[in-house]
Amino acid sequence: MCDNVMYDENWASTYDHYTRIRGRIDEVDDAVAFLDHYCNGGNALELGVGGGRVAVPLSERGARVDGIDNSDSMLRVLAKRSDNVKAWKADIANFSSEQRYNLVYCVYNTFTLLFTREAQLACLRSAAAALDDEGTLVIEIDVPDLDGFVHGQRASTVLLDHENTILIAEVHESLKQNVVSTLLWFSATSVRRLPHNIRYVYHQELDTMAEYAGLELGERWEDWARGAFSGSSKRHISVYRRRR
Ligand SMILES: C[S@@+](CC[C@H](N)C(=O)[O-])C[C@H]1O[C@@H](n2cnc3c(N)ncnc32)[C@H](O)[C@@H]1O
Repeated sequence: MCDNVMYDENWASTYDHYTRIRGRIDEVDDAVAFLDHYCNGGNALELGVGGGRVAVPLSERGARVDGIDNSDSMLRVLAKRSDNVKAWKADIANFSSEQRYNLVYCVYNTFTLLFTREAQLACLRSAAAALDDEGTLVIEIDVPDLDGFVHGQRASTVLLDHENTILIAEVHESLKQNVVSTLLWFSATSVRRLPHNIRYVYHQELDTMAEYAGLELGERWEDWARGAFSGSSKRHISVYRRRR
């Protein structure tokens, strides 16, 4: 079984297009309004800041936004987009910051890119240590979707139009809660192979890990518009604070 994958040049050059296809550009305004509420004119740290899809518009609302990413390619995309966000190269599983933040956040399933339970726990500990006393940690992840796996394998279509065919091939390792996948993107002029490995977590496990890290759940929503989280929700946005 493979391990964490790094976002390379292939990912960085297709990321904006891919997130647009996935509807993640359309919801940026809602995400930023949600996050800004906890930042409240103060400062924020994004874990896995990538090209700044969320961090840049958040900074444009007046927040001081820093970011961490372990991909040089993604950090270059961010640097080209804006110099409002101060970002540095580090592993979100194990980072420290002299600065304390009103808001630390990790969106778009980035938390599940940490491939082991230990790495996920370490990330929550690092995040808790980076919060100021009244600070808030926001994590956005999908509810695990294991429908359609047969003998631990699944192949599905993300997009099929006159220009693109995007397929995902996935292998599930249930003992470790890992799904190792490759996205195959065929377009008129190229085929790209984009690896994507995760360790999925259910919301209750996330709460337990957060408690180990000294945090407690404050709120949980199913989307950025604060829809109620329920058994049919496809993702959750969980808001944690330091345990008192
Ligand atoms: C799904 S993208 C999200 C990017 C951005 N947060 C957004 O919402 O568009 C995940 C990002 O996390 C970064 N990343 C993945 N694992 C990481 C790790 N262990 N440490 C730091 N960054 C990581 C990747 O390089 C990538 O930029």
